[in-house]
Amino acid sequence: MTQEIEIKVADGVQVIRFLRADKKNAFTGPMYNAMSEALDAADRNDAIAVTVFIGSGGVFSAGNDINDFLRRAAAVTSGDGKGIPAPSLDFIRRLPKVTKPMIAAVDGLAIGVGTTMLLHCDLVYATPAASLRTPFLDLGLIQEAGSSITAPARMGYPRAFEMICLGEPFSAERALQAGLVNAVVQADQLEATALKAARRLAAKPREALMTSRRLLRRNGAEISALIEEEASNYIKLMGSPEAREAFTAFLEKRPPDFAKARQKGG
Ligand code: COA
Repeated sequence: MTQEIEIKVADGVQVIRFLRADKKNAFTGPMYNAMSEALDAADRNDAIAVTVFIGSGGVFSAGNDINDFLRRAAAVTSGDGKGIPAPSLDFIRRLPKVTKPMIAAVDGLAIGVGTTMLLHCDLVYATPAASLRTPFLDLGLIQEAGSSITAPARMGYPRAFEMICLGEPFSAERALQAGLVNAVVQADQLEATALKAARRLAAKPREALMTSRRLLRRNGAEISALIEEEASNYIKLMGSPEAREAFTAFLEKRPPDFAKARQKGG
């Protein structure tokens, strides 16, 4: 178990809190595993009606840990990539299968999977400082978590393309206009707002709540199929010279040189 994910259950609400603020709550394998276990527990446990995701230190999450990307890129390049454990993919695969409502409380940055996981949440609250970004292409990668379908479904194709392919950050205000966020609230009200909504849902007749949610989400199988298609492309791209250059450049705190990386061929 990792200390970097805190899980607490009270009043029918499970709160999953990211506690890796010194690394902007970037997700590591153990963090994904802890979240996957918590989602499974919510589905099994009658005492949990709703899950709330929340960050810490003024950040939601900087997405996947880039050190982890680099390790996986090395495994893909060495031909060893097929069997690599992928806690991130395990977590992502669960998202469309979760049967109980999920709520996100977003303060500050939500990057990569920090944004795409929001597209699986039933309610999203954000602070004025929230910024949603999916810089997949700048890392030589493509979108994941079924966002090929969830992003255009939630905000329409032009805005989804702008976010995913152009890598344009969406402010809280823009995310609200785009339908990605239910409400923008001040930081000191964020957790209370998310918990209030979660407790209201937890107090509803359970079977009716889960049935209603299931009917509102008719495209779970389609999302799951896309997650697999995205993942096979993502894993292939992860070993590309450009992706490896992007990961290394980030960790070396310098701009990437994609042309040089292509010439060298990795
Ligand atoms: N993976 C691993 N480490 C990360 C990280 C990530 N995704 N995001 C941030 N960190 C680490 C930094 O390396 C730094 O570590 P250090 O203190 O040991 O040097 C620490 O968190 C603080 O980040 P820093 O970049 O110094 O903060 P900042 O405020 O200048 O920038 C971000 C914050 C989130 C904008 C920037 O860190 C960033 O762009 N992160 C990468 C986001 C990303 O591309 N995620 C993957 C999406 S697919």
